[in-house]
Amino acid sequence: MTPTLLSTLFSESDRVGAGKNKMSLPILRLGAVKDVSRFQEHLHALGLSIPCDTQIRSGPESPLRQPLSRGAINLANRIAVHPMEGWDATPDGNITESMLRRWRRLGTSGAKLIWGGEAAAVSHAGRANPNQLVVAAHTLKGLEKLRTTLLDGHLETTGSADGMLIGLQLTHSGRYCRPNHQSKSEPQILYHHPILDRRLGLGADYPLLTDGEIGGIIEDFHRAARAASEAGFDFVDIKHCHGYLGHEFLSAHTREGNYGGSLENRTRFLREIVEGIRSDVPRLKIGVRISIFDTIPFAPDPTRSSKGRLGPGIPENYSDLVPYRWGFGVNSLNPTEPDLEEAQRFLAILDKMNIQLVNVTAGSPYYNPHVQRPALYPPSDGYHPPEDPLIGVARQMDAARKLKQQFPNLIFVGTAYTYLQDYLPHVAQAAVRDGWVDVVGLGRMALTYPELLWDSSAGNSVQHKRICRTFSDCTTAPRKGLPSGCYPLDSYYKNSSHATKLNAAKAKS
Ligand SMILES: Cc1cc2nc3c(=O)[nH]c(=O)nc-3n(C[C@H](O)[C@H](O)[C@H](O)COP(=O)(O)O)c2cc1C
Ligand code: SF4
Repeated sequence: MTPTLLSTLFSESDRVGAGKNKMSLPILRLGAVKDVSRFQEHLHALGLSIPCDTQIRSGPESPLRQPLSRGAINLANRIAVHPMEGWDATPDGNITESMLRRWRRLGTSGAKLIWGGEAAAVSHAGRANPNQLVVAAHTLKGLEKLRTTLLDGHLETTGSADGMLIGLQLTHSGRYCRPNHQSKSEPQILYHHPILDRRLGLGADYPLLTDGEIGGIIEDFHRAARAASEAGFDFVDIKHCHGYLGHEFLSAHTREGNYGGSLENRTRFLREIVEGIRSDVPRLKIGVRISIFDTIPFAPDPTRSSKGRLGPGIPENYSDLVPYRWGFGVNSLNPTEPDLEEAQRFLAILDKMNIQLVNVTAGSPYYNPHVQRPALYPPSDGYHPPEDPLIGVARQMDAARKLKQQFPNLIFVGTAYTYLQDYLPHVAQAAVRDGWVDVVGLGRMALTYPELLWDSSAGNSVQHKRICRTFSDCTTAPRKGLPSGCYPLDSYYKNSSHATKLNAAKAKS
């Protein structure tokens, strides 16, 4: 089976905008697009139905400044920041000055919804890197300081903490555990994956987590949630995205026992975590960040790669793997297409459990970064964009819109807006006003220009020099064992000794 590029994206009926031209147009550098009308024309030429307002509204007229009150959730505006990990905790998982700086900046965004700050591991063994933040007794004071520092930044921008929710993202890295050394991966897997096992060098006899070990991890989540509550957080996110453990449960079709097979079994991990948290710390709210659809792993096309230059991404050969039983939100008969039916069933479970906060993301940075965070430039372990990154933005927005229509009571936070660059405010405003999502979240943009949406919705002029241009150094740096951060645009990183090391490592590869 050799799928065409279009069929790797969406089925004919599901294509975003279903435009004829979009694959043949060269990728336009958005930094060179001078005004919103040209940007709108470009969307049109690509055949993408991304909503985009011409005029930015400010103050009470801005859709982004509207309060939202649903059930127990009250938010004073529609701006969120996504969790952004920095790979810069101490070796024992405690906070550092650079983390405090990042959290303060997340606060200055003016966002009333702080979705998790950054991924915080529920145990040492569950860390994704040897410098990941850990939730433990010895880090409790540090966690509290992160939260209060963020609040200080928020007060500086907005003057009030009313209508604000601050969460902590709880994670176990599962297949991507690397707790002790940057060069030593220590995967904890739920099932054997025919492509990802090969990439990680795992043989058929590599042990799976037992149901008993899973019980221990669930207790770690309970303990971490109690700590988060003690540190003053309003909610915890039970992370179910990006290929980490929670997400791997959702695709554990081939696993036997209590946690695999049926969707009921594949969501047992989540349900048991939630039950424990609700009984231990009923004041703590719960949210779920979920990769709502996926596609099979991509790799640089070897026929178009050369030394020092990654080729465009193509899906790995899956001809022997159909029906595909190793993905969540994937069409099993054509695994390069998303399938939102599973997502609907998952969201119905959240709705039934009275979990209102849902942050919709997609894919994984490890095996399909163009889906997870559309970018013009690839990270060092990635590939050149196989499509115009705007198609990736549109794909995530479209999935969120369809699901939001079906679950009006859930509070949807939208992801993957950063690639829109200067036109992010125009699209965010339209998306919230038209009900595509309830809240728009900033990921990479929060590293370069956290106050972008606050500035635009205040009627202030936007600082173009601070717009993230999706250079991907914030991902390349950790792949080279260095802290994440915006090396090209943030002087804190640009002028650091890490920048010299990063440039040397990039030149070497
Ligand atoms: C350097 C970096 C760190 C990230 N850390 C996290 C994280 O800790 N938890 C998480 O759920 N997503 C994380 N993400 C994903 C972002 O939250 C977001 O989903 C992604 O960047 C797409 O949104 P954007 O287009 O606004 O950047 C990270 C992304 C980057 C580039
Ligand atoms: S390194 Fe900076 S400009 Fe590049 S993607 Fe990351 S935040 Fe954006």
